[in-house]
Amino acid sequence: MAVRTFVVVGHRVITSPDFNLNDLAGSTGRLDVLLRCVNSAFFLSHDIRRDTELYLIMLGPPNPPKTIRFAGKELRYLNPDERSTAALVRNALRVWRDGGGGGREICASPGVYISCMGLSDVLKSLEGRTVYYMREDGKDLMFLEIEENPVFVLSDHLNFSEEEEKVVLKYAKEIVSVSPLSLHTDHCIILVHNELDRRRV
Ligand SMILES: C[S@@+](CC[C@H](N)C(=O)[O-])C[C@H]1O[C@@H](n2cnc3c(N)ncnc32)[C@H](O)[C@@H]1O
Repeated sequence: MAVRTFVVVGHRVITSPDFNLNDLAGSTGRLDVLLRCVNSAFFLSHDIRRDTELYLIMLGPPNPPKTIRFAGKELRYLNPDERSTAALVRNALRVWRDGGGGGREICASPGVYISCMGLSDVLKSLEGRTVYYMREDGKDLMFLEIEENPVFVLSDHLNFSEEEEKVVLKYAKEIVSVSPLSLHTDHCIILVHNELDRRRV
């Protein structure tokens, strides 16, 4: 099965499980933005996209970086509401903390993995795959040839720092745009899916 991968950086997203599920947009460093990306990456009307994988790179306090990887082909217990996805994220952060962390990625629940990888580690781990950097001023996705098993890298509501951009550009084949307008990250994911769905790749 071909795989579509999205990598999203949450610059201030909390990296401890001590957050309130009733205040996701407030005290979590905008975890809500990343939760909407989970929804856009995986949900069809009555199904889950099993061919999709999503990395959420969380760089906020107190223990950055943490990366939570959602693997569509194994995912269970994922529901469309942000609160229950936040509970999966919180559980992953708890499993990491209670297990003492370590160097390796660990499985927190079916299809949900956590590690201490940062942006450069994640992109290195995907070496061999074709990486596309999603940016407003990139080449129009509609007119681009997209390689098999593509990886799309996006930022949250904050732009990449110069340092981060250097890392992304080291791995990216192209800078790609999905609209002449600056869109929300989760909406970009939907547009990428739509374009690839139409091409049936
Ligand atoms: C809300 S935007 C980031 C902030 C925005 N650059 C600003 O000036 O406020 C979120 C992310 O979605 C992606 N993005 C937004 N609009 C896009 C577009 N038209 N084409 C491709 N990617 C886009 C980029 O990765 C961007 O970093």
